[in-house]
Amino acid sequence: MGKFIQYGTKESQYNGPFDSKVGWSAAGMGDVIVTENGKLIVVDGGCRNDAEALVSLLEAQCEGKKPEIDTWIITHPHGDHYGALQQICGTPELADRISVKSFIYWFPMEFCNKDGVSGVLEYGNKDMEEICRVTGADSRRPARDEKLNVDGTEIHFLYVPDDCSVLNTAGGNSNHCSLIFTVQGKDKKVMVTGDAYGRSMQITAWRYHRALKCDILQMPHHALCDSYCVDFYRYVNAETVLMPISIAGYRAMHSGMYEKSEGCIANLCVEARADKVYKAFDGTVELCI
Ligand SMILES: [Fe+2]
Repeated sequence: MGKFIQYGTKESQYNGPFDSKVGWSAAGMGDVIVTENGKLIVVDGGCRNDAEALVSLLEAQCEGKKPEIDTWIITHPHGDHYGALQQICGTPELADRISVKSFIYWFPMEFCNKDGVSGVLEYGNKDMEEICRVTGADSRRPARDEKLNVDGTEIHFLYVPDDCSVLNTAGGNSNHCSLIFTVQGKDKKVMVTGDAYGRSMQITAWRYHRALKCDILQMPHHALCDSYCVDFYRYVNAETVLMPISIAGYRAMHSGMYEKSEGCIANLCVEARADKVYKAFDGTVELCI
C-alpha cells in the first residue's frame, strides 16, 4: 500500500501573535507520497528552514539509499511552499543527498498583481530554472484534466491556472494560481489544494462535481478563514482532514476572532464533520493510501 505523508513544518510550531495587524504567519506545507513500490512524489516542501528535515524524511523512506524523486509538484511559488526546495538546491551538501527526475509547476506570466501589472510571477519561473539547472531535472506544466500515473498512483490535475482572466479580478494574490489535484492510491483518494482560494475551488466544483469525493482533504490555504468553498467541500466530503496550520493559526480560528467570517464557519464545519484531523503542528503523519 502507498503512503501519503503530511510533513510537520517547523513554522507550524509558531505560537505568537496572529491577526491582520502582525500578519498571518504561514505554517508552510509539504507532502511526500510513497507509491507501493517505493517511488517518491513530493508536493511543495515547506519553508527554507525545513530543507534539512525534508531531505532526512525522504532518506528515511529509502532505507539508506539516495532518494530519487520521480515527480516534484510545486502548487505555487510562495516561500512557505517552495522555500525548502530553494534551500536544498542552494546548499550543495543537501542537493547531493537527493535526485529529482522532473518538476511540475505552472506560474503564469499573465497573472497580474492588484494594480493590474502582469509578470509578477517571473521570479518563481526564474527560481525554478535555477533549481532545474542544479538538479538536472526536467520540468513542465500540467495540463488541466491530465492524469499522471506514477507506479500505480494516479495524480489527476483538476485546476491549473490556464485562464488568468478569471483570476486577475481577484485582488492579485497569487495563491489563486495554486494547482488543485487528486492523488489516487490503491485504497484511498486525497484532494490536494495547496493554497487555493474559493474561486478555483468553485470552478473545480462546477467542472468535476461528480468526481470529487475523496477520503482525505488537504484544507486550502492552511485552513485559515480567507479560503473556502462550501460546494467543493460538500462534493469532496472527506472523512480525514489534513491541516497545514500553525499553533497560532489554529488558536485564532477557534478563538472567536473570525466568528463572523463565512470562511471560518465553513472550515470549522469541515473539521467538525471529519472523523480524523491531522494538524501540521502535531508533527509529521503517515497515512496509508
Ligand atoms: Fe502557504
